[in-house]
Amino acid sequence: MAGEYGLEDVEGVGPATAKKLREAGFATVEALAVATAFELSEATGIGYDVALKISQRARELVKINLVTADEVYRRRQLAQKITTGSKALDSLLGGGVETQAITELVGEFGTGKTQLCHTLSVTVQLPGDKGGLEADALFIDTEGTFRPERIVQIARRHGLEAEKALKNIVYARVYNSDHQVLLVDKAWEVCGDRNIRLIVVDSLTSLFRGEYLGREALALRQQRLNSHVHKLLKLAEALNLAVVVTNQVVANPGQFFGDPNKPAGGNVVAHACTYRVYLRRGKEKTRVAYMMDAPHLPYGEASFLIGEGGVYDAPGAG
Ligand SMILES: Nc1ncnc2c1ncn2[C@@H]1O[C@H](COP(=O)(O)OP(=O)(O)O)[C@@H](O)[C@H]1O
Ligand SMILES: [Mg+2]
Repeated sequence: MAGEYGLEDVEGVGPATAKKLREAGFATVEALAVATAFELSEATGIGYDVALKISQRARELVKINLVTADEVYRRRQLAQKITTGSKALDSLLGGGVETQAITELVGEFGTGKTQLCHTLSVTVQLPGDKGGLEADALFIDTEGTFRPERIVQIARRHGLEAEKALKNIVYARVYNSDHQVLLVDKAWEVCGDRNIRLIVVDSLTSLFRGEYLGREALALRQQRLNSHVHKLLKLAEALNLAVVVTNQVVANPGQFFGDPNKPAGGNVVAHACTYRVYLRRGKEKTRVAYMMDAPHLPYGEASFLIGEGGVYDAPGAG
């Protein structure tokens, strides 16, 4: 989804400034429009006042501004859903994983978060009548658990050519949180070049948690995580794409009753993500998903299975 305008169409942006902006990861007018002047100025060395004018003019160009509710409604109606391959899970999600939103998959190790990410990277490629968006995926892997072999298997189940399905997934293995942040900045460019409608970040929090240790580092970590998830949300909204992130649970030592685990990342992640889906192991080989947090969906749960072809309905569910 390349925009109709180029960087140089923004008044005040000449070739030299455009070069600086591109190098800093602001490759499109949309990326400029949703950046703060502070971010632009920090990343490029352009003075704050100039950065402010540039971001305002970019906003005018792409018309990201004050709107009336009917406009919001119209935009929301452009939101689309990606099937998970399980009817029960789709219906829990209100029809599938939604564009213009961040869906957070939370759960312990082995509950199926990464498998669901693999599945969606394939199903987003399906035609509309099969629950996809006929589009590509960007898969950001922080844990080294992406397996192309799984993509091949899931593609076959859904009747897609395996080789094509692999080519439609842009993959990045990242090793530290700076790199993770940079990649999301770069995503504007990648999304301008290709029709990407799903961005996976598996996992959103693990690198941040591993790098910012101790109490003193907590505030800085949360601040950086906050900026990172908000950039993801801006991408989702501006480009009408789905963002799916995974998150671990951590022990909550203050909790004596009920589930002693809570999602990592605290309020920052909780507030920025539109949907929070909690995954746990169910009876036999099933997995159970709960909708923990959703702006307009009822609370509920769904059982599903993970098999060779990705995510399936559990027998008797749906
Ligand atoms: N080819 C497969 N066929 C069936 N189940 C699989 C396959 N690959 C993985 N799984 C299931 O997925 C589980 C791992 O889930 P995963 O998504 O990696 O967990 P998480 O990311 O939540 O830690 C495995 O324990 C296994 O039950
Ligand atoms: Mg995983």
